[in-house]
Amino acid sequence: TEPFVVGSKSFTAVAINTAAKAGEWIKSKLGDFSRVDEKYSSHDLVTEVDKGSEKLIKNLIMTHFPSHSFLGEEGVEPGPAASAKALEAASDAEYLWIVDPIDGTTNFVHGFPFFSVSIALAFKGEVIVGVVYDPIRDELFVAEKGKGAYMHGKKTAVSLDATLAGSLVATGFPADREGALPINLRGVQAVAPKVRNLRVAGSAALHMAYVAAGRLSGFWEVGLSSWDMAAGALLIIESGGKVTDTQGKPYELSVRNVLATNGSIHEELQQELAKAEATGF
Ligand code: IPD
Ligand code: CA
Ligand code: CA
Ligand code: CA
Repeated sequence: TEPFVVGSKSFTAVAINTAAKAGEWIKSKLGDFSRVDEKYSSHDLVTEVDKGSEKLIKNLIMTHFPSHSFLGEEGVEPGPAASAKALEAASDAEYLWIVDPIDGTTNFVHGFPFFSVSIALAFKGEVIVGVVYDPIRDELFVAEKGKGAYMHGKKTAVSLDATLAGSLVATGFPADREGALPINLRGVQAVAPKVRNLRVAGSAALHMAYVAAGRLSGFWEVGLSSWDMAAGALLIIESGGKVTDTQGKPYELSVRNVLATNGSIHEELQQELAKAEATGF
């Protein structure tokens, strides 16, 4: 069967509509929410808007595709072990929607306008649709496996930068301050002097969409979860870039330490991280 459509319903159309609706609602709640809870540390926040966005997304998707499975960040216990376990438990599903209802919650809480909605659909463990939506800039990035990636009808393509010295690169500081953060900091120390400049803007999914669109030439982060990367990874691959783990193994849903580039700087960035022992736990 054609994996992109059930009856007359396009998976991609549902993903786009859902991301747009969730994003609009999130934007309307910016600065207008009453509760911020800590998940497993003061670095790991959740608001009623994260939960509401996930509920809205899940309802819309499950209404269209009731036989599909759903994995969303706020439906999973906090912490890296639980998120790996939840993915494992969902891995039997033929169609699995992988959703981050707000990627960049810390930014959302502080009113820093850089966050996104990330929706991916995997078929037998492989991402076939990826949508990342930035409601502040109204930028919607869409990829379909084998069919390219687009932003508002225009094909996206990775940058042509061939060296780290000429590249703008991004990373992130994970909520896991004991395991992942020290490794990421070693990476920062190694990479920052080598690149044109480094950005840490606080949404892994949006950073990856920016690699796809050629606005960044590379992104890496240690300690991510499937929902941070699934949509962004397809965006980058369909835009001509490369996504692996930080040791160079091809991207799959279970990757936690991601290295995502335009392809040309992949090896150089990987080597810097390896030299600094910043590639994994
Ligand atoms: C976080 C963001 C952030 C990254 C963290 C993620 P959340 O996701 O992507 O940029 O540094 O590792 O956990 O919690 O805002 O969805
Ligand atoms: Ca979170
Ligand atoms: Ca996230
Ligand atoms: Ca989130």
